Amino acid sequence: MDVFVSWRDITYVPIRRAGAGGIGKVVVALATNGPNKGVLFAVKVFSPRSSEKSGWKQAFMREVHVLRDCHHPAIVRVFDEGILGDSRPFFVMEYLPVTLSEAMKDGSLDHVERINIVMQLLSALDYLSRRDPYIVHRDIKPTNIFWKAGSCVLGDFGLVFQDLGAVATDQPKGGIPAMAQRYRTPELVEFHVNGKKPPPASDVFQLGLVATELFTGKNPLPHGGPTNAVTLDSLPDLATPDWPIIKARLNEMTVVETEARLPASRLLPLWLDLYRTAAARRQSPRQRGPGTHAPAVHAAAVSLRQSPTQGPTSNEDFGSGIMD
Ligand SMILES: Nc1ncnc2c1ncn2[C@@H]1O[C@H](COP(=O)(O)OP(=O)(O)OP(=O)(O)O)[C@@H](O)[C@H]1O
Ligand SMILES: [Mg+2]
Repeated sequence: MDVFVSWRDITYVPIRRAGAGGIGKVVVALATNGPNKGVLFAVKVFSPRSSEKSGWKQAFMREVHVLRDCHHPAIVRVFDEGILGDSRPFFVMEYLPVTLSEAMKDGSLDHVERINIVMQLLSALDYLSRRDPYIVHRDIKPTNIFWKAGSCVLGDFGLVFQDLGAVATDQPKGGIPAMAQRYRTPELVEFHVNGKKPPPASDVFQLGLVATELFTGKNPLPHGGPTNAVTLDSLPDLATPDWPIIKARLNEMTVVETEARLPASRLLPLWLDLYRTAAARRQSPRQRGPGTHAPAVHAAAVSLRQSPTQGPTSNEDFGSGIMD
């Protein structure tokens, strides 16, 4: 495996491969000099599966360019970059070992954490939509979201869209998909079919699909190709706390008509309210300080603990401490 020497003369020694995508592979590497000596990073290096195709290197460089400019706690952080001896570019990001997909499978996320994840990602989408020109991630799905003890981070900006003029709006030719088909949106289908530029609302829809999967355990979008209409399965009834409100919020994020969908800036305060309610309910009587009285909340927590739960809601933990 290549040793990466960045433009800042920092050496990153590869430890193991993290995975490979269409245009790049990701390697876990150790910084052996400089201010971050001894820290593990994830290095993404340009290496298309087949010989370089038109637009692929541009797509790779667009990812670095966008990430270099984005500073938000829920967006993957780029620390360094460089070029290998054979002229392949690479960039160095924070190492994020656990994806949301893995966290969802192992059943370790509780109710408050699920709301927290949606809230943090809405904050990231709000940030991206305020960039000038706005940025659309286009590939929000559980394998591109990372989870680390209470924080979540949006990564893999390989399909990012930012309208910087003729060059940047071109679609990479030669096999890079315009979307992950299980996370297609009405706007991405339109982009694929007639080239209409995707708005930030497309990311809200994709996050709505991920959020629905988080709470119900199932992606509501049936399988289909990039030109198939987007029609969602209706949401089930769950014993999850606050389910009628959460269900309404999820439906708001996945309205098919672009204009009817609330932007991240308007959804964020709604999820913040949900988070505060759920976090307050979660606090156990044992952990409340003396003199703190919240009998109504306590009663609700007890009855919820006793109520039957379904699917992914079964591991909810109302006994641990408040998160904020
Ligand atoms: N910052 C990171 N820290 C640790 N692993 C990462 C990081 N970024 C990406 N990876 C891992 O490297 C692999 C390739 O990442 P890449 O961004 O190229 O995704 P990808 O090929 O598009 O995969 P997918 O289609 O599943 O999104 C994935 O397994 C991903 O989980
Ligand atoms: Mg990915």
